[in-house]
Amino acid sequence: MSFVTSQQMLEDARNGQYAVPAFNIENMEMVQAVLQTAAELRSPVMLQTTPSTVKYAGVEMLQAMVRAAAELCPVPVALHLDHGESSDLAVQALRAGYTSVMIDGSKLPLAENIAITQKVVGIARAVRIPVEAELGKVGGKEDGLEVSAKEAAYTDPEEARQFVGATGVNSLAVAIGTAHGFYKGEPKLDFERLARIRAIVDVILVLHGASGVPDEAVRRCIALGVSKVNFATELRAALTRGVREALTDPGIIDPKVFMKAGKQCVQETVRQKILVCGSAQRA
Ligand code: 13P
Repeated sequence: MSFVTSQQMLEDARNGQYAVPAFNIENMEMVQAVLQTAAELRSPVMLQTTPSTVKYAGVEMLQAMVRAAAELCPVPVALHLDHGESSDLAVQALRAGYTSVMIDGSKLPLAENIAITQKVVGIARAVRIPVEAELGKVGGKEDGLEVSAKEAAYTDPEEARQFVGATGVNSLAVAIGTAHGFYKGEPKLDFERLARIRAIVDVILVLHGASGVPDEAVRRCIALGVSKVNFATELRAALTRGVREALTDPGIIDPKVFMKAGKQCVQETVRQKILVCGSAQRA
């Protein structure tokens, strides 16, 4: 039915006090697993690709695949560039027909993060595509990007207010103690900081690094004003687990067979995350 921008679905989530789940996908089976589950649970959904996925498959191929799948899907689907590392990559995604982009200047000094975000907002606005940015540094490893625990920096609420005012960005990824990848211990999130950011920042807030964060903590972030939650590592792990188990049978050589096993594991993970986000029955 609908291949849409992320704008309306995120506004609806904010008004309804739930979050749109955003799932990183790397191949057709992951796209199918996410969309079949979102359709079953009637959840709006975002699919997103990191720069390394773009390098692996190309924006044109990814966009065509997701658009084709979305058009057959009865719920709203957006395709988002996750952690766009340059304005060139954001432009490539926009040209290919992505319906949402992130420019991640969080590793840059503040003035440079503002400048690159302003540039991408200016370009994306001309084609009515919403932009996500990041302030503060979410720790851990996502793609080629690695932020050590020492480098990770929480988002400063006042700086976030100024950043949003200066850039005109539509949504903001905040660093409040989550990290990309799996956690060694239980992550300690700074809920109080999130509440302070929500009180003075007027755009959609995004939680990155949600794999391995206890469901209760994700729910609390949503109650405090997060409207988009990103999940990547747990989906990759689920796909790999299913494929690995299937391949213990040496007689299986048909990719359709072992990928189906991986897809079923991804579906189960996606189902749990949709329920945690409270987005079921919202489409
Ligand atoms: P995880 O890999 O921890 O789920 O993080 C996903 C993410 O934030 C993608 O941008």
